[in-house]
Parts: sequence; structure tokens; C-alpha cells
Amino acid sequence: MTNIIDALHWRYATKTYDLTKKLDSTQVDMLIESVRLSPASFGLSTYKLIHVKNTETREKLKAAAWGQTQISDASDFLVFAAKTNLGEADINEFINDVSETRNVPVESLTGYADMIKGSVGSRSSEENIVWAAKQAYIGLGILLTAAALEKIDATPMEGFDSAQFDEILGLSALNLKSIVVVAIGYRSENDTYSSLAKVRQSKQNLMIEK
Ligand SMILES: Cc1cc2nc3c(=O)[nH]c(=O)nc-3n(C[C@H](O)[C@H](O)[C@H](O)COP(=O)(O)O)c2cc1C
Repeated sequence: MTNIIDALHWRYATKTYDLTKKLDSTQVDMLIESVRLSPASFGLSTYKLIHVKNTETREKLKAAAWGQTQISDASDFLVFAAKTNLGEADINEFINDVSETRNVPVESLTGYADMIKGSVGSRSSEENIVWAAKQAYIGLGILLTAAALEKIDATPMEGFDSAQFDEILGLSALNLKSIVVVAIGYRSENDTYSSLAKVRQSKQNLMIEK
């Protein structure tokens, strides 16, 4: 098995993808599965993952992301989108899922359901979108790690116009808002970024011991 630290040294935010190299569906499914298995606060589903397959749509999204070529040129392109109307229906659905999956009566989960409803209900919709975005970033982080371990290149990206993405992908009608996106595929041999030394803060700078 690849050492995880070696994998994290190997990975970099790919700037130029090899147009001729595509991931197969098993690889894409594995990365999607890594997001699905990511932990989330309460275990609640607060975001969706959109696999943009249409070439023309990807060109439009590129234009709404300052022309960043990863969006059109990577093998695959995924958008993390937060639910904008998170509420009781989502929580009830989740609780029913817990009940069925673990074979426990829904009534035994009332306290848990009420706690989640209290937490979600105590925040404004804007605050819940921020909360959902935090969960999405955990999924993104796990996808990036899974990709690195499998020697799949990836680019996490925030450099795009969220409102334009929502418009192009019709997300508002689905009660979703684009948060962060990721291109996945294989680096081009000509990507000079692949040989740049990693710039990271030192452990001493990162750590505070109490
Ligand atoms: C949340 C997030 C958003 C980012 N947005 C972009 C982006 O829009 N375009 C891009 O080329 N790189 C983007 N990056 C990549 C970072 O610039 C890169 O991870 C950082 O410079 C460290 O370099 P490395 O990942 O290549 O080691 C983003 C990274 C993260 C984590």
C-alpha cells in the first residue's frame, strides 16, 4: 500500500491535464465512494455531488472560472453543492435511514432527531449553508487523499463564480448552491507545477502545545 505521506508529497494541484488520458468508471466511482463515506456532523447529508459530464456545459463553467483549463481538460469534473433549504424533511429522511439501516425503531431515535432539529433550526439558512459547506470540504479532503493514494491527479478549486455556476447547472431550482469543485484525471507531462517544491509551514509553526 502506498505510504500516505508519500502520496501527499506526490499530489499537487494540477494545472494542466493530459487530454488523452481518461479515468475509467471504476476509478471515478471509487472517488465518489470516498466522498459518500466521508464523515459529517451528526451524519446528516447536507450537500450533493454533481458529476458534470456534458462537454459544452464544462466549457461554460470554465468561462465562469476565469478560463481555468482544468475544468474542461481534466478527465472528470465534480461540483460540491450545499443544500440551501436544509430542514426537518432532511432530518426525518436521515432518521428513517438510520432506523432502517440499523434496524431500530424510529421512536428510539426521537431524542437524536430533536437534537439535530434543534441545532439546524437554531441557525439561519445562510448559516446552515456555511455549515453544509464545511461538511463538503471534509468530503473534498477525503477525495483528494483517496486520489493521491491511487495516483490520480486532482485540483481542488474555489476560483469560480458560484452564482454563474448555479445558473449554468440549474442548481437554484434544486435548492443547491455550488461551494467548491474538483477536477480529476492525469497531469500533462508539460505541467511545470508538478516539479515545484511544496511550500508548507513548518511543524513548529503549525503546532501549539498546551
Ligand atoms: C479550497 C481550495 C481552493 C483552491 N482553488 C484553486 C483554484 O481555483 N485554482 C487552482 O489552480 N488551484 C486552486 N487550489 C490549489 C491551491 O492553490 C494549492 O493546493 C496550494 O497552492 C498548495 O499547492 P499544492 O496543492 O500543489 O501542493 C485550491 C486549493 C484549495 C484547498
